[in-house]
Parts: sequence; C-alpha cells; structure tokens
Amino acid sequence: MSSDDHEMRVSKIESGTVIDHVTSGQALRVLGILDIDGGAGDVVSVGMNVPSDRLGRKDVVKVEGRELSQSELDVLSLVAPDATINIIRGYEVVDKQRVERPDQVTGIVECPNPDCITAAGEPIETRFDVLEDGLRCVYCESLVRDEIVERV
Ligand code: CTP
Ligand code: ZN
Repeated sequence: MSSDDHEMRVSKIESGTVIDHVTSGQALRVLGILDIDGGAGDVVSVGMNVPSDRLGRKDVVKVEGRELSQSELDVLSLVAPDATINIIRGYEVVDKQRVERPDQVTGIVECPNPDCITAAGEPIETRFDVLEDGLRCVYCESLVRDEIVERV
C-alpha cells in the first residue's frame, strides 16, 4: 500500500474499476461522465478531498463490476488529467494506467448546437477535437468549454 492511504476510507472492492487521483472536486463530474446517477443500481463508492501525497487532496471513485470504455477514459482525462485507472479482479490490482489526453473524443459529450447532424436523431456519434481550452465539434465547429459536463 502506498503512502497515499495511511488509512482506508473507502473499502476495497472485489472487482471493477478504481479511478484514483481524481482532481479534488471532480468526483461528481466523473460520475456524470460514467452516466452513474444511482438509478441503474451500480455499486459505487466515492471519496472526496481525501489526503494524497501526490496531489494534496484527491477524489476517488470505485465502480464495482464494471470496466470503462476508451470513450469514457478519454472524456475523464479532460476533467481529471492526473487520474489513475486501476482494474481490480479478485481484490487485486491487475492493471493500472494513467489517463491520457486524446486528440479527439467520441460519444459521451453532446453537441450544444440543436441543428448539428449529431442532434438530429440519426445514429451518428458525436465527435470533438480536443483543443487547449475546450472541445470543437468536427461536424458543426460548435465549441464546448467549461460546460463539458453539463453536456454528458
Ligand atoms: N483498491 C481497491 N480495491 C482493491 C484494491 C485496490 O479499492 N481490491 C484501490 C486502492 O484503495 C487504491 C487504488 O485501488 O485507491 C490503487 O490500489 P494500489 O495500487 O494498491 O494503491 P497505490 O499503491 O496507493 O496506488 P498508486 O501507486 O497508483 O498511488
Ligand atoms: Zn455539432
């Protein structure tokens, strides 16, 4: 166990995904990106403002029985650039990776332009270029900035 966890605030999980080193304050946005609102019955534990050697304070999200898609990881990297994704099986960490900032994100985020082709009820996934300070729809060039998560 690293020095990040002098004491365990949230129990270990048997299998699923631990999103660790989430930027303090971003846990609820992470839940939004993963489409977790308590309704689907997912077992989820959240730690907020937990002391961390690396970040000072961090949030942690543990989702049981589920691994994340690449699209989810890509969008996560935008709100939690230091996050570590730990895959847990049989109580062991079997894979650990840092999120990486992608050049594009697909799905998850909706285009704010009601006239965008992706908003027309066609089976077209949203796709955005990742810019320094936000996202740009590749179809209509609409910009999404701070409100990324209101759009998931
Ligand atoms: N974890 C968990 N359930 C498990 C195993 C681990 O919830 N069965 C959590 C730990 O609490 C920690 C994260 O998964 O938040 C990563 O676990 P581990 O690699 O053991 O911790 P550290 O060494 O602290 O990770 P790092 O080096 O990435 O800080
Ligand atoms: Zn668009």
